[in-house]
Amino acid sequence: MRIDVVSIFPEYLAALDLSLIGKARRENVLDLNVHDLRDYTHDRHRTVDDTPYGGGAGMVMKPEPWAAALGRIAVESPVDKTGGNKPILIVPSPAGAVFTQEMAYELAEAPHLAFACGRYEGIDERVIEFAAESFDVRPVSIGDYVLNGGEVAVLAMVEAIGRLIPGVVGNPESLVEESHSDGLLEYPVYTKPASWEGHEVPEVLLSGNHGKIARFRRTKQLERTAVRRPDLIVQLDASKLNRHDRDALWHSGFAIVDGKVVAKEPVDPA
Ligand code: ADE
Repeated sequence: MRIDVVSIFPEYLAALDLSLIGKARRENVLDLNVHDLRDYTHDRHRTVDDTPYGGGAGMVMKPEPWAAALGRIAVESPVDKTGGNKPILIVPSPAGAVFTQEMAYELAEAPHLAFACGRYEGIDERVIEFAAESFDVRPVSIGDYVLNGGEVAVLAMVEAIGRLIPGVVGNPESLVEESHSDGLLEYPVYTKPASWEGHEVPEVLLSGNHGKIARFRRTKQLERTAVRRPDLIVQLDASKLNRHDRDALWHSGFAIVDGKVVAKEPVDPA
């Protein structure tokens, strides 16, 4: 996969040299290129921003450097454009669609992703219109809070997407059982010693009984998700829940009514 990131703080992306993503880059599994937006300016001050039309606080990123940077990335894209295919341009923004594990799986299939890191009050909206000619443009948020720019969001998204590319995570099994892969949070894990500072590893995990261990873990997933993320529980497909799952949910405050998982008491929407 090819990834291009455009930013006025390319140093921010240095963390992508580390750990599994760094290794994938060195092994050419991931062709990741970071571009300094200021390299696409032509004035002495390498200006990337200006005052907003219509007034208001702060500065807006100028269109010309963005057009030059994105134009070059589009030209270099390995995507076969016949049949209307385009590389994907992700524009991190608190006003975007929320990034999820499902989106990470979808994006991990793409041959070419580009990321446009905005700063200040954002990028001139015409850049988005212009970019749509060459890219499938997606404004994406990593959560309902505001960052100073897109760089930290890109670090999060590239890590979440990159680790799903075959060959990046050493043991692909570990992707199967993690949080969000089946709509539930992951079960708690333990290692040696079995007894530590008066805290014991749950007995069943020492039993060697794989059926019981699987049941214990699934119950923990359901209990934990019910407490921490009730919004995920009510989205479960009730037809896929067995008698034990239903029992665990009942004890965690949920019932199955008309084929749907519902809270016995109203759920706090947060
Ligand atoms: N830029 C500023 N805030 C952001 C957020 N929550 N997600 C993605 N990009 C952002």
